[in-house]
Formats: sequence, structure tokens, C-alpha cells
Amino acid sequence: MDDVTEKREYTDDYQDKTLYIPGPTEVREDVIEEMCQPMFGHRMDRMTDLYTTIVEDTKEFLGTDNDLMILTGSGTEIWESSTLNLVDENILVPTCGSFSERHANVAERLGKNVDRIEYEWGQAIKPEDIREALESSDEHYDVVATVMNESSTGVRNPIEEIGDVVAEYPDTYFVVDAVSALGGDYVDIDEHNIDVIFASSQKAFAMPPGLAICTVSDAAYERELSKDSASWYGGFQRALDYYDRKGQTHSTPAIPIMLAYRKQMKYMLEEGHDGRDQRHREMAEYTRDWAYEHFDMFPEEGYESQTVACIENTQGIDVAATIEEVSEKYDMAFSNGYGSALGEKTFRIGHMGEHDVESIKALTDAIEDVAGL
Ligand SMILES: Cc1ncc(COP(=O)(O)O)c(C=O)c1O
Repeated sequence: MDDVTEKREYTDDYQDKTLYIPGPTEVREDVIEEMCQPMFGHRMDRMTDLYTTIVEDTKEFLGTDNDLMILTGSGTEIWESSTLNLVDENILVPTCGSFSERHANVAERLGKNVDRIEYEWGQAIKPEDIREALESSDEHYDVVATVMNESSTGVRNPIEEIGDVVAEYPDTYFVVDAVSALGGDYVDIDEHNIDVIFASSQKAFAMPPGLAICTVSDAAYERELSKDSASWYGGFQRALDYYDRKGQTHSTPAIPIMLAYRKQMKYMLEEGHDGRDQRHREMAEYTRDWAYEHFDMFPEEGYESQTVACIENTQGIDVAATIEEVSEKYDMAFSNGYGSALGEKTFRIGHMGEHDVESIKALTDAIEDVAGL
């Protein structure tokens, strides 16, 4: 392979930016400070205290009776492991943007037969299409895999209704990629038959990147036991059994990030799943109103994300230049549209994590100023 990347020496001289990108997002100062502690061993009692605390606190926050693992890595790992753990042959993946497409590509790479239901970018997945596919296909689907919040298009899919449909097919498992939603958008996991739902720590949990959070139903755990080709690193059984026996992780975890997690999860418990949902809804509504005043929203109406606004650039502003100038002048970072197709046609504001309406307004004021709105 040709070496095209040259070393660019990291300096200690970077201006901090307030993050309004769809992750990583802002992390509280005292949560960051938690990471600066002397190391300890991952087989020490202190680790058991730390890991059992973060696992049980997260279950309490999410209000689920399902098991939960917190794995060093990121959400991407769970695309791979949930496919290996649950799918023998066939997986149904509705695609409506870049991340759901990638989920389908991962399953294909793992040698599975992937049936897609393809939606135009910006459109939401419809429960009746899932029902139709499950009813009419000659295939038996081991898994229906759905993205909750398609971060590339700002669409929030109706995973609750889709879960109710999949519940009618007891041998089909329901896997939800909630990477950019969980922690900022309420979901009743147990009520809607969600066998596996996962998130990355750097999104609405407002933690540093490096951990994947994943809940696993009893049925999904049992299903993996019957398979001989399950994931090793991301195996549900290995992680959950190790937790049951030792209260620790099967391999050495990112201890500093787990220390930060513990602190942040206490804040999340204080605010509650409902409280965070409410605050994120207010931010989403504010951003939407602002977008309608100056631009338009990209997602199909009624399916707008609660954590990432994807705004259609109806004014034809120079998105890249605006991002650059807002960064220079205000030290705030927001995102262009996803990929070359949406890069200038849309832009995205991550209103997730620890932001509130006031801090989102600071960004929209800055955009107004720079873009002359
Ligand atoms: C919906 C969705 N799924 C999966 C991923 C991949 O997550 P990670 O980069 O944390 O592995 C992302 C990342 O932005 C995402 O937005």
C-alpha cells in the first residue's frame, strides 16, 4: 500500500471548541477529571466495585430488567457481535441512511444473507413494511436490525411500533442501534421486545468515547448459547457470565473512561430517563422552530430526531465556510451534512448530552451572525 498519510505532530496548542456535532459531545469538567486517577488492576476488588456500580446504575437509569454489558470499544462493535451472536443465515435490515447501511454491510461482510428494505435518505422506516417483509418473505429472519436515530439524516425511527411487530415473531430477535439516541430519547426497552439495544458513550450519555453500552434479553442470551460461531470479544454470554461470576469484564477495560462513566451516570440517575427525555425534546423543538424560521428540516415530518437536527440548507449558505467561521469566531463546532450527497445540502446540530436550550441558542445566534440570517 502506498503511504499517503504523513505524520502531523500533535501539539499542546489547540483551542477548545464547544461541541454541537453529533458526538462526541460536551463532557462535564468534573467527569473529565475523574479520569485522572492512578491506575488500578482490573482484577482488584476496586474494579468489581466500579463495574458493578456502572452496570447496575445504567440498568436503573434505563429501567430495564434485561442484562447489560459495558464493553471497551464503541457501538460499531455491537453491529458485529450482535450479528455473530444471533444470526445463522438471514437478517432483515431496513436502511434509511449511512449508519443503517453500514449495519447491513457489516452483516454482509460476516457472510450473512442480508435483505434490505431501502428508504430514501430522510424517510423513516415504517412498521407496516417490516410486517409485510416478515409475513411475505420465504426466508426466516433471525434478526430485524433497526437504527433508532439515523444520525446521517436526523430521522428518529418508530422502533417501539417496529418492536411490537417483531414481537409477533418469537424466533426473530430485535436489535436496535440506538448509538446516538439512548440517554437523550426515552425508550421502554422491555415493553417493546427489544432484545438488544446499544449506544456509544460519547453521544447522549455525554461521556468520553471508548465504551459501548448494550442490553441483552434472556431470549437473546439463550439464542447465543445455541450458536457455535458467536463473537468472542463481543459475545453476550462471555461478558454476562463473567459479570455474574466476578462482577468484572472478561478482558482489561478502559478503566479511566469507566471512572468518568460512574460519575456521569450518577448525574444521569439524578435527572432520570424521563427528565433527560424532556430536556432533549425541548432542545429539539427549539432547534426545529429555528430551522423552520430560516431553513427547512430534512427528515420526513413527524420523524425528526430528538438528539440530532438535520437542517436542509434551503438558503444555499456556504455550509463549510459557515462552520469554519463559527469555529474561529465563537469556538463552537457543528457539522456539515453527511457525506458528499448531503455535505452542503444539509447541516447538523447535535443537541444532545449536557446541552440545554440556552446553549443551543448560543449556537444558533452564532450561525445567524456568521451567515447573516
Ligand atoms: C446511528 C449510529 N450508529 C453507529 C455509529 C457508530 O458508532 P461508533 O463510531 O461509536 O462506533 C454511529 C456513529 O456516529 C451512529 O451515529
